[in-house]
Amino acid sequence: PLAATGALLTRAAEARSAVAAFNVISLEHVEAVITGAEAAGSPVVLQVSENAVGFRHGRLLPLARAATAAAEHARVDVALHLDHVRSDDLLRQAPAAGFSSVMYDVSRLPYAENLAATAVAVDWAHAQGLWIEAELGEVGGKDGRPAPDPHAPGARTDPAEAREFVAGTGVDALAVAIGSAHAMTTRTAALDHDLLSRLSAAVPVPLVLHGSSGVPDEGLVAAVAGGIAKVNVGTALNIAMTGSVRRFLADRPEAVDPRTYLDAGREAMAREVTRIIGVLAGAGRT
Ligand code: G3H
Ligand code: ZN
Repeated sequence: PLAATGALLTRAAEARSAVAAFNVISLEHVEAVITGAEAAGSPVVLQVSENAVGFRHGRLLPLARAATAAAEHARVDVALHLDHVRSDDLLRQAPAAGFSSVMYDVSRLPYAENLAATAVAVDWAHAQGLWIEAELGEVGGKDGRPAPDPHAPGARTDPAEAREFVAGTGVDALAVAIGSAHAMTTRTAALDHDLLSRLSAAVPVPLVLHGSSGVPDEGLVAAVAGGIAKVNVGTALNIAMTGSVRRFLADRPEAVDPRTYLDAGREAMAREVTRIIGVLAGAGRT
């Protein structure tokens, strides 16, 4: 059934575990995430990013309606989250489109401007009954831009600033920059686990890891143990889908029906979803 992101996060936090949140671009992604979560027997978050809306000709509703319908018929709890929103117009479409949560991302702005803009978004979101996540420090690699040096000043999230930011904005969860980057195709990101434990001690709301595709399994396990409660994964599904479709078409150059290779791609994504949820499930905090 369709669930609320906030409820899934609260449940995960109580169990000292994490919820997996997968970015979806197409109906095949939506179906694969749900099938993979059903196989794992775990709740899941489906995320649509502002970038994905751009790919869908700038329209949120077609994919959102499909995701809502698929979620309603799922055998596990599925929540819809609008991810990396910068546009106020898109933000305002979230409640009517079935989303129970949003990530408002103006992390590229200087600290004071990020705080002021996020506080306005939080007031609006809470008035709508939406759960809202924001980002402080910048997890790089968005919009195809190269990831900045994660050791550069300002790139990592500062614990004292994070505490002040959460208190000043009222956000329900905070995305933190601790060494991951978006859109990595190798799993070589080294997280700063010492910084994560300081952030976890400083901040009273759940912490969110972005760019999780680039983090090796043991890094994800340690991140959940260290206080990450929502693990955002996008690129890993695209690697699985594209690799599978590429192999299928290479083996069968005569294929013309898209269902044949979309099916292969969808199955590969579902397997990856089940695998990642399994990694996180084994990672409860002690
Ligand atoms: O918000 C989405 C995630 O941060 C996805 O990042 O594509 O690098 O896994 P990724
Ligand atoms: Zn992200």
